[in-house]
Amino acid sequence: GASTSSYQIEGAVKEGGRKPSIWDTFSHTPGRIADGTNGDIACDHYNRYPGDVELMAKGGFQAYRFSIAWPRVIPDGTGQVNAAGLDFYDRLVDKLLERGILPMACLYHWDLPQALQDRGGWHNRDIAGWFADYARAAVGRLGDRVKPWAMLNEPSVHAIFGHGFGNHAPGLTGWPSYVMAQHHQNLAQGTGLTAVRALRGDLKLGTVFSLQPIYPASQDPADVAAAQRFDACWNTINLDPLFKGSYPAPFENVFAQLVKPGDMEAIRVPVDFLGMNYYGPSWIKHDPAAFLAQAGYGAVPEGTPRTLLGWPISAQGLVEVLTRLRDQYGNPPVFITENGACYEDPAPANGVVQDPERVEYIRAHLVACGEAIRQGCALNGYFAWSLLDNFEWAEGERRRFGLINVDFATQQRTPKASYLYLSQIMRAHAAARP
Ligand code: FCB
Repeated sequence: GASTSSYQIEGAVKEGGRKPSIWDTFSHTPGRIADGTNGDIACDHYNRYPGDVELMAKGGFQAYRFSIAWPRVIPDGTGQVNAAGLDFYDRLVDKLLERGILPMACLYHWDLPQALQDRGGWHNRDIAGWFADYARAAVGRLGDRVKPWAMLNEPSVHAIFGHGFGNHAPGLTGWPSYVMAQHHQNLAQGTGLTAVRALRGDLKLGTVFSLQPIYPASQDPADVAAAQRFDACWNTINLDPLFKGSYPAPFENVFAQLVKPGDMEAIRVPVDFLGMNYYGPSWIKHDPAAFLAQAGYGAVPEGTPRTLLGWPISAQGLVEVLTRLRDQYGNPPVFITENGACYEDPAPANGVVQDPERVEYIRAHLVACGEAIRQGCALNGYFAWSLLDNFEWAEGERRRFGLINVDFATQQRTPKASYLYLSQIMRAHAAARP
């Protein structure tokens, strides 16, 4: 299938009773988005979802991961549930099911209601309760038809970029800010899972982490140690609390100040699946100036292929992460919930956009998925990021990951070669199934 997120595609930011999220505030702050765009309209998916579902159906897509916008469902963050906001997802889900596409909903993909940010956002531990209430509202309405639910999208990325570097919403910076945002997300993920589990017995519950291999930029012991700290901040700060009930060794003391009795038990709850977003590995060096545990990005080895954003490409890295989950985390059932690449695409010609590099990226990573399965990893499915070109956060509309090209001026959709490629694979797999 394919994956999207609410703020990146929906637009219609004032329709159906939605109120602003931290991304509305951030994208309207001059200088925050590389090309000055925002998500006010984005792909106008809120209004164009029937056509978008049709494109999935035509391509033989079997599943679709989307996210629900908290500011549509509970516009003030807490309190009154907005039925009109849920109506949109109701229509979307019915359309998907009508076309035989399995919906997977993610409850939080970074668009926190601004009203909650005004009350401290992820720095306020009350958010664990606020999130559980929101989760109950969404699942209460859609849980009869949507069975797989993911709690959070990439909590470590949201903590690092949104609350540490400050280049994502809400634009906060520094180590203490990052640490609070990380712990309270972990906690909310736990309270959310427990709240929703109590609601219905027929759901498949999980959460989504961004995972990647972290390599030292050199064999210098300082770089090796920095890479271990970065690995803790990126990967195990999410994995260890969920699967082991503890924070990774380098930061146990740091988090001890925030952890209240019962927190780790609240976080360590069984999940039916883990969503894993995979893009590529990072090389890390010791950097005393880096806010993140003095671990900063180092030089990528010469000759490493990269995407337009400079992200290193390694399909083998996908196998490494999956085998790590197999060996160190009890081999949980995994879905690749995002995988994809940003390239400079040519203009549509004869009804298609030729994106051979994206096709090759996806092909290589699907081969890696097969390899991981042969090595005994419990990999259950694959969602490409993303269905549509969309609002790529701080990069704005200028950076494209879609399987389908979007002309943001006309909202015209044009399939890319990668959409056609994936479609062929999905149809072949469907036909081969007994
Ligand atoms: C991931 C995000 C997703 C998208 C891709 C490119 O970190 O989850 O929204 O922006 O990166």
